[in-house]
Amino acid sequence: MTTPVTSSEGGHPPLLDLKSVSKSFGGVAALRDVDFSLAKGEIHGLVGENGAGKSTMMKIIAGVHHDFEGQMLLDGREVRFRSPRQSLAAGIGMVHQELSVVPDLTVAENVFLGSQPLTATGAIDWARMDKDARAQIASLGLDIDPRTRMGSLPVGIQQLIELSRVLFSGARIIILDEPTSALSPPEVERLFKALRQLRDEGRSLIFISHFLEDVLAISDRVTIFRNGRKVATANAAATTKDGLISQMIGRGASELSAGESAELTGNASKRVMLAAQGVSQGGILKDLSFDARAGEILGVYGFMGCGQIELARCLFGKLPLDSGTVQLDGKPLPLASTAAARKAGIAYVPENRRMMLFRTEPVYKNVSIAILERIHRLLVKPQAERDIAKTHIADLQIRPPNAEMEVGQLSGGNQQKVALAKWLTHKPKVLILSEPTRGMDVGAKQDVIRIVKALRDQGVAIIVLSTEPETILTLADRVVVMKRGRVVKAFETGHVEKGDLLAAA
Ligand SMILES: Nc1ncnc2c1ncn2[C@@H]1O[C@H](COP(=O)(O)OP(=O)(O)OP(=O)(O)O)[C@@H](O)[C@H]1O
Ligand SMILES: [Mg+2]
Repeated sequence: MTTPVTSSEGGHPPLLDLKSVSKSFGGVAALRDVDFSLAKGEIHGLVGENGAGKSTMMKIIAGVHHDFEGQMLLDGREVRFRSPRQSLAAGIGMVHQELSVVPDLTVAENVFLGSQPLTATGAIDWARMDKDARAQIASLGLDIDPRTRMGSLPVGIQQLIELSRVLFSGARIIILDEPTSALSPPEVERLFKALRQLRDEGRSLIFISHFLEDVLAISDRVTIFRNGRKVATANAAATTKDGLISQMIGRGASELSAGESAELTGNASKRVMLAAQGVSQGGILKDLSFDARAGEILGVYGFMGCGQIELARCLFGKLPLDSGTVQLDGKPLPLASTAAARKAGIAYVPENRRMMLFRTEPVYKNVSIAILERIHRLLVKPQAERDIAKTHIADLQIRPPNAEMEVGQLSGGNQQKVALAKWLTHKPKVLILSEPTRGMDVGAKQDVIRIVKALRDQGVAIIVLSTEPETILTLADRVVVMKRGRVVKAFETGHVEKGDLLAAA
């Protein structure tokens, strides 16, 4: 073998070597001057906060992004993949962060998507496909009929099947971007066993996760990203979770800036408005209990896939509970339908707020009560509707300040303000907000924070669900942390920092 032009820490030449890689999207830097090397036969963990640039770097390696600065060397030779197909042909397989299975196809069809075995006559060899698929998923401990429709399986199983597709594709470099978000602890263990086997066969793996214990347990080395830059690469055995967190965040407690710490003011004497007891749902939510109090903002923090979305959907009557109870203002909350939940006084602004807006209706109708109670629309005077809406548009600084404009034409941040504005006229008992400030600019964030706090001060019990510690710490009076479908920690009063939330999740 010829000697490659580079060397890595261990004295062995790296299999894959990125040098001074930078990548920006429309002038916004996602990666800055990053060096990263992957050795043969190693599992390399990659950690960093949301938006740190992890997926972007993996997409460069996998040929999704090719307009980057810097160099990428494979076996010492410079490469630049123009497409995922080219990267795949070079022996690189990637499981993306977003599940990409096809729910309407069978398990076997998903396993062999795009690479079905053929018979001598060139037809798809269904029998072999079923047999091979069964063997492949059995390696991850799954005993499932390969002809089962993918969409009928639980998300964790779908995630494992998708993983099996890449793990057993023969790739020598395997990239797993957040592969365990939907997995239960025994499933994670089975996956880890398979990953170690692949490593011991000499394959190289990159493992991205927010579950830092998992990263430390499975990785040989760990690289930490912060804000588009590589901070360090360390031996996993010599690293602790707290050590990773402080490098991810990048500063000590004394230098925390706004949103990175909070003084909580939970007040147990406030009236409990919503009480969830032992809530379980679909193998995702497990025996979950918490209270939300009138005049208080409860922050629910957790990583993607921790069950927040399912929790919100349960409370809003979109998902039936398997067990447990929810009381609203001392009475059992009807959990069967969204109409009943809304009537009982629950309001929900989901992450995908477009779902809750009538995009082709003007702003004023979205803001006014008429859109909620469409049946009574004839009873509401249009002029009164417009007047109410105009007051809110001015209050919330919705831009452009035009009550007649179709909501669908507003920017995402302004749509969010409209989605919140209607609750100012129609105060709910409990307001559930999922990622209320995601993707908003600083000004719009400030406006939303102001509205949410105003509603709290008027006595509404507010539940803010977010995967961003900053969002939680900016808004919450009290915080609970969710992990894999359970509440694992509660912070009631006193000083709490971003690192405390990350450590609990
Ligand atoms: N296709 C894109 N267009 C524009 N901006 C993008 C695109 N992909 C990523 N970005 C931006 O690049 C930055 C890095 O994103 P990236 O997805 O790499 O983060 P990440 O570390 O994977 O975060 P997470 O843990 O949330 O998955 C972010 O600011 C993101 O908004
Ligand atoms: Mg990512």
